[in-house]
Amino acid sequence: MKKQLLALAAMLAVSAGALAADIKVVVSADQPGPVIHRNIYGQFAEHLGTGIYEGMWVGPESKIPNVRGWRKDVVAALKDLKVPLVRWPGGCFADEYHWRDGIGPRNKRPVKVNTHWGGVPENNAVGTHEFFDLVEQLGAEAYVNANMGTGTPQEAAEWLEYMTGEGNATIVEQRRKNGRDKPFRVHYYALGNETWGCGGNMRPEYYADLYRHWATFLKTPAHNRPLFIASGGNDVDTTWTEVLSKNVKHNFDAIAHHAYTFPSGKWEGKGAAAGFPEAEWISMLSQVKKIDDTLAKSRVILDKNDPAKKLAIYFDEWGSWYDPEPGSNPGFLVQRNTLRDALLAALHFNVFHSHAERVKMSNVAQMVNVLQAMILTSKDKLVLTPTYHAFKLYTPFQDATSLPVKVENNPVYKHDKFEMPGLSVTAGRAKDGKLYVGLVNANATQAAELDLQVGAAAPKTVKGQVLTAGAMDAQNELGKAAQVVPQPFEAKATDGKLTIKLPAKSIVVVAVEG
Ligand code: AHR
Repeated sequence: MKKQLLALAAMLAVSAGALAADIKVVVSADQPGPVIHRNIYGQFAEHLGTGIYEGMWVGPESKIPNVRGWRKDVVAALKDLKVPLVRWPGGCFADEYHWRDGIGPRNKRPVKVNTHWGGVPENNAVGTHEFFDLVEQLGAEAYVNANMGTGTPQEAAEWLEYMTGEGNATIVEQRRKNGRDKPFRVHYYALGNETWGCGGNMRPEYYADLYRHWATFLKTPAHNRPLFIASGGNDVDTTWTEVLSKNVKHNFDAIAHHAYTFPSGKWEGKGAAAGFPEAEWISMLSQVKKIDDTLAKSRVILDKNDPAKKLAIYFDEWGSWYDPEPGSNPGFLVQRNTLRDALLAALHFNVFHSHAERVKMSNVAQMVNVLQAMILTSKDKLVLTPTYHAFKLYTPFQDATSLPVKVENNPVYKHDKFEMPGLSVTAGRAKDGKLYVGLVNANATQAAELDLQVGAAAPKTVKGQVLTAGAMDAQNELGKAAQVVPQPFEAKATDGKLTIKLPAKSIVVVAVEG
């Protein structure tokens, strides 16, 4: 009996400790890991709904202030975010896009139907030259996704030649005639999108052969060679990673992967963007584990098939996807953006950082007005979403050197039938020389207290910003006071301990000082 009581007392002591302030976060600053590529903070802009037209492109004649057609306010907000690269023109749209429709005088470009997204007219006002003007205004890199679904190897090869060619070939002269003497700098070039689905319903073996065939003809001057991307798997499917990494060799630098998150976990009846119960808060956030697991599995495959580590994983579509906003065109993928989306983004970042050795790019879907957008616009107004602020908070991690982090006594957050680690933490030595820590408290109702150590010692001070709000679905709406905006955050050590108090449902990014 006495033995049993002692065992019970010991168990209570342990669990009481875990529930109280025994959480310890230890950063190993002396064990630098791989660099967190800035392109992990990449964006995706597709010809879809008002993602490009209206949202960013208003045309040079518009009363909305613009530079050569691109909205000044949107470009300024995106520049503030240090957008490192933009993927264009799709998505599913890419496999129905013919680049020649988008060059030459705009009033002569053909009007087509955007059959994939909403059945609306596509007037091709934004084409190759306009896209490069946008990325050059942003100071971002260009990721061009070629059409493999309804295109030809010749069309894909000629687009590349049009953009990068230097001599006096007729196609290069055509680019000059269209206003661009200097070649465009194409950093990334992909063949097809979601070729397992909207891009052609292919099998990975078939696509691998097709990729080998098409990639043979992709030629550029050596100093303007893009990194070439093969379209890969979806969600937890790593078969594409296996088949492609085993069978493709030439002009092959990265495998794209996509995974979206729906509250219900299902494509049909995804769930609402706002006005949801806590069960749908945690169901969304806990799904990030699936991405972590899939990346871990993909890395094992790549380490086997590509031990020299030449191939990268580009997670070039991810984010929340909800039922369409009532009253909107369902093909426009309009959705609200709440605090939940900001935390979902930060959890993705932490996972991508932990796989930085192979994950060298990710593109949130999408940049403006579509799915998990950074910016929502209406006529000449715009609003910065909670997701925008999550991206902004994490900018110091662009090109930072990742550092290992251990979370001791990480509390388990449980609700309904779901559970996940309560805290997610990442750390890196940024380009400014400072050590940054990013912390997410996923728990919707309980704050967390943790002690931070760098090696064996507590830092003197941490300073940064916190993003949180009163409601799980707090959002920033046009014409209303913003509910989700970063606030200053600071903690100081006392008695050799630095305790950080994370509010419930919050993101904190701090620089360690002293
Ligand atoms: O981002 C919206 C769509 O989602 C993309 O066009 C497609 O690639 C994916 O299915």
